[in-house]
Amino acid sequence: MHNILIIDDEPNIIKGLKRAISNQIETCRCVGMTAPAEAIEEVRNTKYDLVILDYRMPEMDGIEFLTMLKAQDLTQNIPVIMLTAIDDIQTRRLALQLGAYDFVSKPADADELVIRIRNALRLSIHQDELEKQNRKLEEQLIQSQKMEMTGILARGAAHDLNNLLHNIIGLSELESLQDSENHPAHANTDAILSSAEHAADLVKQILDIGKPPKDANNTIDIGKAVDSSIDFLRAALPSSIRIKWENPNLKSTVSAKENQIRQILYNLCLNAADAMEGNGEILISLTERKIDLKDPEKLRDARPGNYLVFSVADSGCGMDKNVLESIFDVYYTTKESKGGSGIGLSVVSRIVENLGGFIDVKSKPEEGSVFSMYIPIFDRVAANHTQAAHTVSLK
Ligand SMILES: Nc1ncnc2c1ncn2[C@@H]1O[C@H](COP(=O)(O)OP(=O)(O)OP(=O)(O)O)[C@@H](O)[C@H]1O
Ligand SMILES: [Mg+2]
Repeated sequence: MHNILIIDDEPNIIKGLKRAISNQIETCRCVGMTAPAEAIEEVRNTKYDLVILDYRMPEMDGIEFLTMLKAQDLTQNIPVIMLTAIDDIQTRRLALQLGAYDFVSKPADADELVIRIRNALRLSIHQDELEKQNRKLEEQLIQSQKMEMTGILARGAAHDLNNLLHNIIGLSELESLQDSENHPAHANTDAILSSAEHAADLVKQILDIGKPPKDANNTIDIGKAVDSSIDFLRAALPSSIRIKWENPNLKSTVSAKENQIRQILYNLCLNAADAMEGNGEILISLTERKIDLKDPEKLRDARPGNYLVFSVADSGCGMDKNVLESIFDVYYTTKESKGGSGIGLSVVSRIVENLGGFIDVKSKPEEGSVFSMYIPIFDRVAANHTQAAHTVSLK
């Protein structure tokens, strides 16, 4: 619905214009005012898409009104069509200089007026869209500045952490060599060593963000990667959470690192455990799926091809539409009170995107959630033929 304000000191003219407009443009709400001073207040308080303004009015002429309208941030973008009784070139020129959009001569021809109104409304719609896009771009700029700052801080912390972890790894290796295998501390030392190595791998990923991959053809078997992550996950989740995973032993491989799969699983399973309030079952599954152009709307943006679909399902609280729209935004969390930082899923989506894949989420309040990661299956033959293109697609 478009709001149009008609300002004319003649009530009959307002009446005639309203009739002409509402007969031909259904999506309009016309308000008429005879006092320009009150009209100025009105445009400040209500959003108007167009002002139709009489030039000759006793209290304040159209030029004075236009000057006031264009001088204020809130009202300066409202298109104005001036009504002029005389063919006064000087007035028209002045009004155009002040920012009037168009003119209609009095007495106005209804058809001509409606055409000019439609043009002005089109301009108003474009202006609204531009403003919306500008606001969005400003938000994105702020977000990316925050991300850049977070990246700098994370890199600094990761660098120091890396040095500390290498001390731990070095000392544990030394200890492990010195202890005999039967020594009671031997198993603990090995556990410390393997956790520290895993942590060092994660830290290295942070340090490598933004760097081109050294080995684009690093392929893994996701099934094996999940197998090796499960022990780690069991240690991280409460024992009241069961993990169900049957490795289907698929032969296909994907171009990823084991650590990336572990990080995806870790974040999704922690979220699932939170959603089930620490009690329930997480189902991890793996299937293959071919995507072609006939696939449902949702999957159409994906590149056609063969994908490994790696899903994590829970029977937790689920999500409504509003939450679902924002879950991949950095810092979006509904768990502020429980210390959530809203970073987990943005990391997951970044990893999956870097692997050339995408994520499909299905969830409803109280009906649980299923996160399905579609990761392109590595095609060794195609990779050998189109090495350059493949390297680019892996980013
Ligand atoms: N399995 C799930 N069930 C219900 N809601 C979920 C699930 N996974 C994610 N969410 C919603 O998405 C939001 C964002 O998740 P994300 O992992 O990015 O951040 P977080 O878990 O809040 O914090 P953290 O940075 O510690 O991971 C969560 O706060 C939650 O509202
Ligand atoms: Mg999380």
